[in-house]
Amino acid sequence: NSIAAIVPAAGVGSRMQHNAPKQYIKLAGKTILEHTLAKLSQLPQLSRIVVAISDTDPYFDELPQIDSRVIRASGGKERADSVLNSLFFLEANPPQWVLVHDAARPLVNIDDINTLINECIKANEGGILASKVKDTIKRGHTYSEQTVPRDDLWQALTPQLFKYDELKSALQNALVNGVTITDEASAIEWANKPVKLIAGRSDNIKITTPEDLDLAGFLLNKQQN
Ligand code: CTP
Ligand code: MG
Repeated sequence: NSIAAIVPAAGVGSRMQHNAPKQYIKLAGKTILEHTLAKLSQLPQLSRIVVAISDTDPYFDELPQIDSRVIRASGGKERADSVLNSLFFLEANPPQWVLVHDAARPLVNIDDINTLINECIKANEGGILASKVKDTIKRGHTYSEQTVPRDDLWQALTPQLFKYDELKSALQNALVNGVTITDEASAIEWANKPVKLIAGRSDNIKITTPEDLDLAGFLLNKQQN
């Protein structure tokens, strides 16, 4: 049951409106990407940690080395391209499973990742961390037209764990068919394969806009103490 991690970290962070990509913003003493890699380095099950980085990124090679399992691969145009490039990078010696985790989610809880890995391997099915929607959800444009029943609604988080071969063919098929792929699970669903929902902590936020920074910094400081 070999598992490799893939960390998409090739985005430009347009919604963050910061001079460098958001994964290089420092919070609680180090960059967001270093926090994320430090979390994954606590998982001895991972054989390799492939980080998808843009070819024009000057920052990654300047970071202190966190873990000897970390390897740089080339990112792509969209997040799904970065993940697919990382899968191709592993092609010569593929793992059985891949654990895909956004660089922008440094707050992830290690126990949640272990639960995801254990449940998926036990069921021999792929799955994702997700959290039940807590807010009242409205559908509409200028006016609310409807309140959407939320009992079966989940927010998709990462990590997402799938079999290497299944994820590679699902992503390739979805991309050639022009399907919008915002996470691994959307490609797997499109391929009609199961995606287990594993409840994870909702403070595993994806740092996206400037107002996420104070909360993330507070939580990272708290986790380190
Ligand atoms: N990502 C990637 N390759 C891309 C785009 C995104 O590896 N071509 C990564 C980001 O670096 C991030 C994760 O995918 O760790 C989630 O994407 P998102 O939060 O959308 O980050 P950005 O695309 O950088 O931000 P924005 O959409 O605001 O530009
Ligand atoms: Mg993006």
